[in-house]
Amino acid sequence: MTDFLDINKTAPDDLKKMIAMAKDMKQARMGQPKATLDADQPLANHMVALIFEKPSTRTRVSFDVGVRQMGGQTMVLSGNDMQLGHGETIADTARVLSRYVDMIMIRTFEEATLLEMAEYASVPVINGLTNRSHPCQIMADIQTYEEHRGSIAGKKVVWTGDGNNVCASFLHAAGQFGFDMVFTGPEVLDPETVFVEEARAKGVSVTLERDAQKAVEGADLIVADTWVSMHDAQSTRERRHNQLRPYQVNEELMARAKPDALFMHCLPAHREEEVTSAVMDGPQSVIFDEAENRLHAQKAVMRFCLGK
Ligand code: CP
Ligand code: NVA
Repeated sequence: MTDFLDINKTAPDDLKKMIAMAKDMKQARMGQPKATLDADQPLANHMVALIFEKPSTRTRVSFDVGVRQMGGQTMVLSGNDMQLGHGETIADTARVLSRYVDMIMIRTFEEATLLEMAEYASVPVINGLTNRSHPCQIMADIQTYEEHRGSIAGKKVVWTGDGNNVCASFLHAAGQFGFDMVFTGPEVLDPETVFVEEARAKGVSVTLERDAQKAVEGADLIVADTWVSMHDAQSTRERRHNQLRPYQVNEELMARAKPDALFMHCLPAHREEEVTSAVMDGPQSVIFDEAENRLHAQKAVMRFCLGK
């Protein structure tokens, strides 16, 4: 049994095995109604707690459906409704939940909350997004890229906009899967230096480029995310919009990448802000495949955590 806390904390071989398992599990379900149970039921007699301290559509539904397809049951808990939101410590919550459930997925604000939960829980803990990273999303994104274009190793991925939690997990993945990254955005929103340096130390190239037009030249994949994340103060909204407008992904920007470049966005998107509808709904966009693959990739992550 093991936790899934971040892509840089999981061995590359294990990550690759999970992606392969996700592809196999997806393939095995092809043409089946969505509610069909998998032939294999590795989570039979397993209860999984899904804790949300922030809103969610994809993470919530994909984890819930994934557990059920594999024969398990879920309990969706809102942080606010738990004693956790009213002063009970994370450590105590972790020890109590471990007496009832077989695995915990948590979406929270501070990374410290996730780490404390993992330290004190005696069951596996999965990171369903913190202010600092979003590893499950990037597992789905790697699966998606590889389904469309083959191995992501050696490719050029361009992150546009805010160097946020999703960008951080892409940087973790760059080091583990061996692809190069260019971040293009304003200096004040650069990704954390530690993530950039860690990827570089693993032998991949990470470049910070202020000029979006230059950044996307030769790109195999262009990625955008919201300009204002759930943990960002709404008071920063106008400033961020002004800083990030030059980094909008539109058809003109896409045209500067390789002709077969893909476009990704973890969703939810703000159409005509960080990306235009023409790109989101255009032929290079794989955004709904990414959303679907959350289901398959996380099923593999859960099996890995439980050793199943
Ligand atoms: N991409 C993602 O994590 O979406 P939700 O916030 O809807 O879970
Ligand atoms: N960066 C976004 C991702 C949402 C899935 C946020 O944290 O709000």
